[in-house]
Amino acid sequence: MIQLAKSLTSFVGSRCGTESQAASIEAVHLSKSFGSGEAERLILDQANVRIERGEFVAIVGPSGSGKSTLLNLLGCLDVATSGHLSINGESVGELNAKDMARLRNRSLGFVFQSAHLMAKASALDNAALPLVYAGISRRDRRSRAAEVLERLGLSDRLFHLPSQLSGGQQQRVAIARALVNRPSIVFADEPTGALDSRASQNVLAILKNVAAGGVTVVMVTHDPAMAGAADRVIQVNDGRVSIPSDDLLCA
Ligand SMILES: Nc1ncnc2c1ncn2[C@@H]1O[C@H](COP(=O)(O)OP(=O)(O)OP(=O)(O)O)[C@@H](O)[C@H]1O
Ligand SMILES: [Mg+2]
Repeated sequence: MIQLAKSLTSFVGSRCGTESQAASIEAVHLSKSFGSGEAERLILDQANVRIERGEFVAIVGPSGSGKSTLLNLLGCLDVATSGHLSINGESVGELNAKDMARLRNRSLGFVFQSAHLMAKASALDNAALPLVYAGISRRDRRSRAAEVLERLGLSDRLFHLPSQLSGGQQQRVAIARALVNRPSIVFADEPTGALDSRASQNVLAILKNVAAGGVTVVMVTHDPAMAGAADRVIQVNDGRVSIPSDDLLCA
């Protein structure tokens, strides 16, 4: 695992130094409501979040508190009702849909609880998918995807279908897909929620080493051990964001 982690750091770290020194993520008074009229509900209430480049941050809180809503806003998968969001110093509110899609494809990677792989495509083609949208040639797509899969310990599984992989291996393919474009930020929503403890430890070690390579990692988790491994914890309670004290962290 240590050897894998080192080589992964060098893979993701190769884009470092090209980003500006602005905060990786800066959200000011970010709010989100769902519904309209009398049915309108405020789900995220004026969240202020600043995350520096290379930080590994865990978002924790009770079910339904707004963690995924916050992550989806920070990851530009959803649009805030009000407030301001900058990614790598770029104001997201000023981007049109095409530029938003480009930002997501070029700079952001996503991992979810379920791997969401294409069932009829190999591990290699699944991992290479973001490079299709980036307009990279098939040959280069395959060699870059193979490189990152190898670094995640899947060199002997490149041509397996998802159904021929374990849950932990499928999640590593999903992580490879998130990393293949060398993103500056990786967002993970309960990435170990469906895994056993050994596979969870593996995913955690990978994410830690992605962050060690200078990539910002923002991870929602219910698991105190996962949150404890992060550099910093952001707590969400009933739509309000706070930074918990060390005492709360150990509870
Ligand atoms: N598209 C939507 N339309 C209406 N309400 C929504 C929508 N998405 C989320 N919500 C509501 O927002 C609240 C927060 O949801 P969210 O998914 O952010 O919670 P969470 O903290 O991630 O919970 P969990 O830990 O269970 O995943 C919930 O009450 C949910 O029902
Ligand atoms: Mg959630």
